[in-house]
Amino acid sequence: MQQLYNRRILLGISGGIAAYKSAELVRTLKKAGADVRVVMTRSAMEFITPLTLQALSGHPVHHSLLDPEAEAGMGHIELAKWADLFLIAPASANLIARLSQGMGDDLLTTVFLATDAPICLAPAMNQAMWRDPITQENIAHLKAAHGDHLTLIGPAAGEQACGDTGLGRMSEPDTIVADVANCFETGLLAGVSVVVTAGPTKEAIDPVRYITNHSSGKMGYAIAEAARDAGARVTLISGPVALQAPERMECVRVRSALDMLAACEKTQDHCQIFIATAAVADYRPASQQEHKIKKHSDELSLTLIRNPDILSTMAAAEQPPFTVGFAAETQDVEHYARDKLTRKKLNMIVANDVSDRSIGFHSDDNAVKVFWGEDGRRDFELMNKRRLAVRLIELIAEKYQEEH
Ligand code: PMT
Repeated sequence: MQQLYNRRILLGISGGIAAYKSAELVRTLKKAGADVRVVMTRSAMEFITPLTLQALSGHPVHHSLLDPEAEAGMGHIELAKWADLFLIAPASANLIARLSQGMGDDLLTTVFLATDAPICLAPAMNQAMWRDPITQENIAHLKAAHGDHLTLIGPAAGEQACGDTGLGRMSEPDTIVADVANCFETGLLAGVSVVVTAGPTKEAIDPVRYITNHSSGKMGYAIAEAARDAGARVTLISGPVALQAPERMECVRVRSALDMLAACEKTQDHCQIFIATAAVADYRPASQQEHKIKKHSDELSLTLIRNPDILSTMAAAEQPPFTVGFAAETQDVEHYARDKLTRKKLNMIVANDVSDRSIGFHSDDNAVKVFWGEDGRRDFELMNKRRLAVRLIELIAEKYQEEH
């Protein structure tokens, strides 16, 4: 059920005995890696408490349209936009009737009207109520209005809480979760653990000064987001940058090359693809002064020592991940990039010509050449770093799959 990893599922619960199954539904969705938020109708709260669903989902439960405090936190429009998919289970006959009429008289129905996300509806009611021509007409109306955007899950046949037997039971949580998962495509890197380094490192000279470079982190953050959108479990290890931590991934902030190395080494037991876009300082001051250095003389010499090579360290592990390096070059781009590919024992290297100031450091665009193996090569012309990141992730996924 890799498709549900990192997905945002909004669960709408209406009033009916099947609401007790919502607890299991939330648990199963969470187990599959989804982030779940819950919206309940007033009558649903007669069957299961918001506290139970809050404890299971890890988020406050939403139930009131007219609560100013709740609206100030995450209002109905934010909830509607937040969802990757809106699952309504159980959907009672009354709720289905209100939805089919386009009513927005409580939080759940308002979110239904406001969302652009795909919708899954799991009806649950007495078999006679399900068979009733008005219920069937309401269902047909909803299907016609929403087309492929709406998936009906069940109802299932069997013995009902009232003692009747027939079609009307809510489908079992496992079936619902499987159907919800099928609404999402399996990404190119579904379930693969990807670690990305990004940004510069800062090497302290004294408490107020440091050595660094011009990396903004834009390339690395775009790569991390593209990997996440391809279904990967992403850890982003970032040097100091002005960018916000992207959502739906672990973001570890570090300062120096040594910090970055330590954070990368912690991922060694699970990292399957390691992508090093960071511009790691090759050298650091041999010693960091405890106090600010004073201007006592006209000259000041600093002794610098080599930093460990993080990428080579990851590539030299007993069970190395698929390693992708970036090479920032100002001349002989292919020659130096291929040299790094072999010397650092990498699977792939992405070469930037940073002598051109419209690409590479800090720019929004980039143009790169990618090299792998003996003679593998692909050139990517100038494009936005976000678009380039998607193309690079497609190539990395292709080469990674070939080796696994
Ligand atoms: O952050 P932006 O402003 O968007 O700019 C993007 C970028 C230009 C920084 C990026 O595209 C890029 O080229 N990153 C690599 C920069 C670099 O340090 O290249 P390098 O040739 O010095 O290093 C080669 C590889 O070894 C890199 O993958 C680097 O992360 C890694 N390395 C280098 C030194 C070191 N001590 N440890 C490392 O892991």
